[in-house]
Amino acid sequence: MRGVTDFSLTRSMFALPPGVIYLDGNSLGPPPVAAAERVARTMRDEWGAQLVGAWNGAGWMVQPRRVGDRIGRLIGAPEGTVVVGDTLSIKVYQALAAALDLVPGRRVILSDSGNFPSDLYMADGLIRSLGRGHELRVVEPAAVADAIDESVAVLMLTEVDYRTGRLHDMAALTARAHAAGALTVWDLAHSAGALPVDVAGADADFAVGCTYKYLNGGPGAPAFVYVAERLAPRVRPALAGWLGHEEPFAFDLDYRPGSGVERFRVGTPPVIGMAALEAALDVWDGVDMRDVRRASIELSELFVAEVERRCPTLELASPRYPNARGSQVSFRHPDAYPVMQALIARGVVGDVRAPDVLRFGFAPLYLGAAEVTAAAEILGRILADRSWDDPRHRRRALVT
Ligand SMILES: Cc1ncc(COP(=O)(O)O)c(C=O)c1O
Repeated sequence: MRGVTDFSLTRSMFALPPGVIYLDGNSLGPPPVAAAERVARTMRDEWGAQLVGAWNGAGWMVQPRRVGDRIGRLIGAPEGTVVVGDTLSIKVYQALAAALDLVPGRRVILSDSGNFPSDLYMADGLIRSLGRGHELRVVEPAAVADAIDESVAVLMLTEVDYRTGRLHDMAALTARAHAAGALTVWDLAHSAGALPVDVAGADADFAVGCTYKYLNGGPGAPAFVYVAERLAPRVRPALAGWLGHEEPFAFDLDYRPGSGVERFRVGTPPVIGMAALEAALDVWDGVDMRDVRRASIELSELFVAEVERRCPTLELASPRYPNARGSQVSFRHPDAYPVMQALIARGVVGDVRAPDVLRFGFAPLYLGAAEVTAAAEILGRILADRSWDDPRHRRRALVT
């Protein structure tokens, strides 16, 4: 640990196109400079030179745990409690299935309307597969605490709302869930690499997250799952793949879960993609998350002030108090889509979430105050001259 994080150093570790102000690292982080060479090395020196021997020789088989431990450091998870693989939607399903299985007498999954739709869809699909009468109860984010009662089996929440950036209090809600006899599944997609997280300190039961947002692992980079040490030995995996088996190469006909979080592995890991993720995690090696949080709050506060001064028609959709949000700021505008397209055409990249949210993410690893002020200036100009109101900015693309 270097102590105080040197963000000019981390900035130099990213390959951003010139002239771009990137405020979308909360959707897809930019490529670390070292990622291309790391992937090339994996292909050339490992796959190319060692062929199948690389599973042992290059440590491919233990990579999901090794990478899991590196992520664990960023989310307050002890060694050996995080493993990497699959997509986040799959990890949500696995964690929720495991949690429900540990609370067999109850039928309610409690979540909120700020949760990411895929998490709710996965819960719904799991309920149908189980066919045991479970119910998904969805309340407003502010109503979650009061909705925790003794009918709840599992509290399943995304810590930072993907749309508004609203931040739940993980420790307080987990304590409340435990007091009511429920378990918790936390989705850290918009938390890992965005703000300090302490899954063990908060006594979370399960946590999951992705690595392509603030962790900069690249498109389709694998997800991670955390299980509390006290629970891991009791977990019966619903997706019981061979690599989660105690002894995959015994090729037993019967499943025996691997030790600890290993049992959350399913099948063959995405080795080449994980090489890019490893290069991305190197950037985090000297970084203190408290410095990231301090800088991220400075940047987001600056953005809110500059935007509100220049854009009176925009309505802040995020909590105003910075400690009540993650590392993003959102504004509402009835024509959010063309406004964002006009902004992107001028080099400021954010994104839109239906129906009317302009979303901006702040990643101090590669973003500074001058860029944030410039982004607000450009947004102010686009709104003032209505240059967003142009048919070419209204053409809808597949990804918003
Ligand atoms: C909070 C949250 N949960 C789940 C997902 C789904 O992740 P994946 O597409 O990797 O399954 C996302 C995707 O952005 C997300 O933001």
